[in-house]
Amino acid sequence: MTKVLREAPLHSEASETLDPQNWDEIRAQGHRMLDDMLDYAANVRDRPVWQPIPDDVRGRFRAELPRQPAHLGEVYREFTDFIVPYATGNVHPGFMGWVHGGGTAVGMLAEMLAAGLNANLGGRDHIPIEVERQIVEWTRQMFGFPIGASGIFVTGTSMANLMAVLVARTAALGRSVRQHGVGDEGARLAAYTSTAAHGCISKAMDIAGFGSDALRCIEVDRSHRIDVAALRERIIQDRKAGLKPFLVVGSAGTVDIGAIDDLKALSALCREQQLWFHVDGAYGALGILSPALAPRLAGLEDADSIALDFHKWGQVPYDAGFLMVRDGDRHRDTFAAPAAYLRRETRGLAAGTSWPCDLGPDLSRSFRALKTWFTLKTFGTEKLGAVITRTCALAAYLETRILAEPRLELLAPVQLNIVCFRYRAADANKVNGDIVIDIQESGIAAPSTTILDGQLAIRAAIVNHRTDACDIDALISAVLEFGAQRSSCDHRLVLDVEQSPPLAM
Ligand SMILES: Cc1ncc(COP(=O)(O)O)c(C=O)c1O
Repeated sequence: MTKVLREAPLHSEASETLDPQNWDEIRAQGHRMLDDMLDYAANVRDRPVWQPIPDDVRGRFRAELPRQPAHLGEVYREFTDFIVPYATGNVHPGFMGWVHGGGTAVGMLAEMLAAGLNANLGGRDHIPIEVERQIVEWTRQMFGFPIGASGIFVTGTSMANLMAVLVARTAALGRSVRQHGVGDEGARLAAYTSTAAHGCISKAMDIAGFGSDALRCIEVDRSHRIDVAALRERIIQDRKAGLKPFLVVGSAGTVDIGAIDDLKALSALCREQQLWFHVDGAYGALGILSPALAPRLAGLEDADSIALDFHKWGQVPYDAGFLMVRDGDRHRDTFAAPAAYLRRETRGLAAGTSWPCDLGPDLSRSFRALKTWFTLKTFGTEKLGAVITRTCALAAYLETRILAEPRLELLAPVQLNIVCFRYRAADANKVNGDIVIDIQESGIAAPSTTILDGQLAIRAAIVNHRTDACDIDALISAVLEFGAQRSSCDHRLVLDVEQSPPLAM
């Protein structure tokens, strides 16, 4: 041991711990922070959804490593002045970009409580682990999975999908794949999804050692649902070619337009062909809580695994991804790795098994379960389901407004809570890309874009429980206003609706 370490003081004086010297002071500061953040959520409509970060503000976050302490109040002031105004904006009801949940005050408070406990949910015998097990059990019931199914919180669905690919890999190649790698047999494995699937599936195949070429992206129908007949044909062809199909990934809510694959047909095909059936239900799987949507998710109960995010339609603050696996043993076979320092005991703090670290790559894990537990208990699944139904009703309202407006054009059928449309213009891709940025910079709303059949679409994903009809109206007005500005210099403006046929739903 170095001399410096040997000579360091052994007895901690108050000034040497990181606890406050004056608890009353930090209590007052803490109450101020809490009040401010509750005001932030309560008055979020008064703020722009998002605003560009000025150079000098960005520059503040290129500072030197702080070596000396600063007063908490001063650090907090930096937070209020330079962080709060330039956050993503997904708390705001006008945020419709990508697929972001809005969070709740309840979830925020729960996150503070979790930080106070500072629990590590890798394993061991403490009640936070039981809270996570409670959510696993509730999720099992929600999706009609059998007893013995396993589940685990992860960062998000990208991670959950990767882990599902790894579990399917173990199911196909046996546990020995963990020692020997995928080898020659693994090089023959093929997985299947649709062209509308999220990019993280291809990334998962890459990271799992198969390479993204081993993922077959099957064509979709007009509603972006996988063509099950084409999938079957491709599986048969691949078998004939000496490949070994092992996995089908269905989508419960595609990222672009919210399509739900025919999960019943996929599960039947997977059973017949003896393939692992995984469902990417990032946001759509929680549609199971909405009586209006649940029937469209039929077949989900037959999946071998489901990936989903409580931080999207579940409104739990980021992050709260989740993986559920029908056969818990297979799940453990994929990730459990004994180590002397993680020995399980029959009593004491190391009692109990299995631990969450047996179900995923992480050992240190935060208490994501607490904010989810608070959310489910405080609101109840009926209310959460009603919120989900309402976001779809708002999407239908946006669709109606678009169809009634000759200057706008719907680019995809509205099936769930996502609406893709554009402003009619000659150079439509350029004009609509600019419109979206203009709207984001105006602070009125925050839609995003996607490309559908080579056409740039304005994409509004209505996920936030705070979004209301007035926010849809504000989005439409903004698109029309910025569209008129953007295309006023475009003399080839196309206003003749007759030129493009209406979209068949
Ligand atoms: C269908 C789908 N799959 C996967 C993901 C990735 O989820 P995450 O961002 O939680 O990793 C998303 C994100 O929106 C998604 O919509």
